[in-house]
Amino acid sequence: MLLKTLSFSTLSILFVLIFIGGYVSASGVGLTCPDWPLCPAGLVPLQDFIIEYFHRTIAAITGLMVIITMAFTLKSKQAPKEMKIASIIAGSAVIAQITLGAIVIIERLHAHLVTLHLGIGIILFSMMVLVTLYSSKIQNNNNKKTSISNLEKSTVS
Ligand code: HEM
Repeated sequence: MLLKTLSFSTLSILFVLIFIGGYVSASGVGLTCPDWPLCPAGLVPLQDFIIEYFHRTIAAITGLMVIITMAFTLKSKQAPKEMKIASIIAGSAVIAQITLGAIVIIERLHAHLVTLHLGIGIILFSMMVLVTLYSSKIQNNNNKKTSISNLEKSTVS
């Protein structure tokens, strides 16, 4: 249950982050916060760079959640090998994505780097979809086992 909730929450926040990223790009506000890792006013969000501030803040939270999901998946005895591999790819992709985010800023939104940023975002999202589907399957199997053992108990008594 925990893994299913965790992976679904991670996938949902990642989905929102990709929307914000698209907005940052389409509205041309990518360089409103030219410093790294913090914006010019530190942790204070100002109107001048609020969209980019949100993109970075949500990216930091998403990064943490992807890593926590990976740690729980690797620890789980029920998680199949494929799920563990997908979670490792997601963990690596999120680290690469956050590092690339910094390079995108330093290189002043170089087209190749922004395209790569979008590409890694897609890989990350796909891997999180797989992890979420596997966690759902594990949960369904657990529910089936519980119902069968309840049925057996009620038949015996
Ligand atoms: C998990 C982390 C992240 C994800 C999934 C993500 C995703 C995205 C996506 C999907 C876009 C739109 C790309 C496009 O339309 O071509 C975008 C844009 C952008 N991202 Fe991220 N991002 C992440 C982290 C970061 C970080 C940490 C930074 C650092 C500052 C950053 C900086 C930017 C910038 C500046 C743009 C706009 C580029 C432009 O103006 O064309 N991103 N991001």
